[in-house]
Amino acid sequence: MIKKAVIPAAGLGTRFLPATKAQPKEMLPIIDTPVIQYVVQEAIDSGITDILIISGKGKRAVEDHFDRNWELENILAQKEDESWYQMLRQIGEMADIHYIRQKETKGLGDAILHAKQHVGEEPFAVLLGDTIVDSTIPVTRQLIDIYDQYQQSVVSVEEVAAEKVSRYGIVGGDDLSERLKKINIMIEKPDTGEAPSNLAFAGRYILTSQIFTCLEETSPGKHDEIQLTDAMNILLQRESIYALRAQGKRHDIGNKMDYLKTIVEFGLKRPEFAKEFRTFLKDIIK
Ligand code: G1P
Repeated sequence: MIKKAVIPAAGLGTRFLPATKAQPKEMLPIIDTPVIQYVVQEAIDSGITDILIISGKGKRAVEDHFDRNWELENILAQKEDESWYQMLRQIGEMADIHYIRQKETKGLGDAILHAKQHVGEEPFAVLLGDTIVDSTIPVTRQLIDIYDQYQQSVVSVEEVAAEKVSRYGIVGGDDLSERLKKINIMIEKPDTGEAPSNLAFAGRYILTSQIFTCLEETSPGKHDEIQLTDAMNILLQRESIYALRAQGKRHDIGNKMDYLKTIVEFGLKRPEFAKEFRTFLKDIIK
């Protein structure tokens, strides 16, 4: 049973400056809901009950967002329409959320290593805090279902364009079915020509607790950071790792163009905006 999730949210957000100079990229809103709320919701919808957010400098807004806000709640409770009050209370009680701070930005692998004590010996989920996936079944749930079958680590992957492989962790392996692979190699941000495929890590992982020993053995890699991908290569020598081409559409919010597209897509899906927004888009494109 996978009950714990780790959400790394300590990155500096340099790709999204100046918006991220004084606020975390994880708090960027998709219309009215911060990205990290979607991520926490995905974890909860997947059966996770315990969430550890790896926080860092300048990320206090994330903690405040999942805390109760008594002052605002009191004001909203007096209004006739109770729905705002209820919505605010629900956010403050979404899950059992814990925080630990990564004091230096030494990479995704180092961030995950901060979860060692909290996670203990159990397998756990990792959901990148700047990535949301729009899917019928939450991607973390899809991965947990594969874990339940194989009892080994499993990651979500997606096909990316050949010219984009150098932006991602890329995997190679043997097909077990149309959507499932058994991984035999992983390279973090390979140069073109070095990539074993165009299947990229897509921001969701289920890892066994063995990953912590592997992370401790991992030297700084790409960009002089402790890379999760490098630690997973060590894990691969000891255990099997599977890759699932999960159903769903990934939105990388740390990327400005993806962010823009996400807001348009989500805007068109919101019943209260859809009609007027569609007409507006059609008119403006003319
Ligand atoms: C991280 C991982 C990479 C993965 C990517 C997905 O990279 O290191 O393997 O493909 O997330 O978004 P980052 O985008 O943090 O540089």
